[in-house]
Amino acid sequence: MRLIIMGPPGAGKGTQAAVLAGAIGVTHISTGDIFRLNVSNATPLGVQAKAFMDAGEYVPDDLTNSMVRDRLSKSDCGAGFLLDGYPRTLEQVGELDSMLEGAGGCVDKVVELIVDVDEVVNRLVKRSADQGRSDDGEGVIRRRLEVYFEATAPLTELYEKRGLLVRVSGMGAVEDVSGRVLEALGVNA
Ligand code: AP5
Ligand code: MG
Repeated sequence: MRLIIMGPPGAGKGTQAAVLAGAIGVTHISTGDIFRLNVSNATPLGVQAKAFMDAGEYVPDDLTNSMVRDRLSKSDCGAGFLLDGYPRTLEQVGELDSMLEGAGGCVDKVVELIVDVDEVVNRLVKRSADQGRSDDGEGVIRRRLEVYFEATAPLTELYEKRGLLVRVSGMGAVEDVSGRVLEALGVNA
């Protein structure tokens, strides 16, 4: 299975992707996590990405696409993967299509987590207090949400037209959300 999980910052993409990838037996790929690892290791990619991330802006498509192309070529993606946080722009959708076409495949399903804006802000403010992630300050949270609704939310319509989109409520307890997603995907956990 080749899956994508979408939704605004704080929707629970990473939390749910970890559960789903384990339940389905595919590799979880979070572009945000890969960027953060590169930032903490001060790699050339991390150095380039840091200022964009700290401002709540997207890292440029060319850097992001080549990172994902490299990641998807690894052997652990052979049995399938769950992309968390990619694609986020129209250009990234086109790049992903061409990466998968090149390997004779396509995306099987796209899950969109639907969560109220107030709830995502509460979750991120709470995480800021608990963990201090560098893009969880109040102004940056606001910018991340703006960028999401401007650049990424419209992409769900594109996947809907392809008949791939499943919309699932991301409100409530983590286990309840996981159950809803697995049911929507037709997976017996
Ligand atoms: P990324 O790391 O993808 O961040 P994000 O999408 O802004 O959102 P989060 O990861 O904060 O939220 P999430 O939906 O994963 O929720 P989570 O499970 O963590 O991207 C960061 C940055 O990297 C971007 O801004 C950009 O700069 C760059 N980037 C990444 N991908 C890119 C791309 N493709 N192109 C360009 N740039 C890119 O949950 C959030 C919190 O809520 C956690 O504390 C969690 O414990 C809690 N929580 C989760 N579920 C529940 C629940 N059901 N009830 C209560 N609390 C919950
Ligand atoms: Mg995440």
